[in-house]
Amino acid sequence: MKYFIANWKANKNIGEALAWCSAFKSKYVAKDDVVAVICPPFPFLNDLKKELAGLKNIFIGSQTVSSIEKGSFTGEVTALNLVGLATYSIIGHSERRKNFGEIDEDLAKKTFLAKQYGLEPIYCIRDEKDIVPPDVKLVAYEPVAAIGTGQNESPEKVVEMKKKLNLQDKVFIYGGSVNEENVKSYLATGEIDGFLIGGASLDGERFVKIINQS
Ligand code: PGA
Repeated sequence: MKYFIANWKANKNIGEALAWCSAFKSKYVAKDDVVAVICPPFPFLNDLKKELAGLKNIFIGSQTVSSIEKGSFTGEVTALNLVGLATYSIIGHSERRKNFGEIDEDLAKKTFLAKQYGLEPIYCIRDEKDIVPPDVKLVAYEPVAAIGTGQNESPEKVVEMKKKLNLQDKVFIYGGSVNEENVKSYLATGEIDGFLIGGASLDGERFVKIINQS
């Protein structure tokens, strides 16, 4: 199975999100061995879920989730809140670590709560020093220098990192300036199970082009 995960980050308004869905739907053709996960900002989760309902192998994910379970925490979005809306949750993206001070302890709590409420974590690490909680199935390796810079890390280096990580039966995902031009070079290694895609996922047709390379 190959995973293509679209991380929209803090982009788009609702109109743009719906236009993305139309563009995506006009081109998407499901394949048995390909899964796509669309991770829009929280306010669009429900609309995307409805818009993309019925498409085979398409799932909705959140870009983060609270480390708190529930209660009087104004503004938080918890795993409980996401039940019925999202299937996956990105946890530990380097932008969360850097800009919002998220540390391993928070990320372990997020992972625990995500699992408890039936969300599958997509756990991001920057390198081999970041600790992956034991029950995580999908690990996304995202070297900071490659994120949003156009400086994607070479497939050889990514495979080297996979070896260092010794992930056993976990799913190994790469993220960092993946696009329709370079995705094939990663697939050709036979070692990379999927991609976390930021900038190049913001256009629905372009995202399908990337998926279609597999
Ligand atoms: P990028 O972002 O594809 O724009 O480099 C990847 C990510 O941050 O998940």
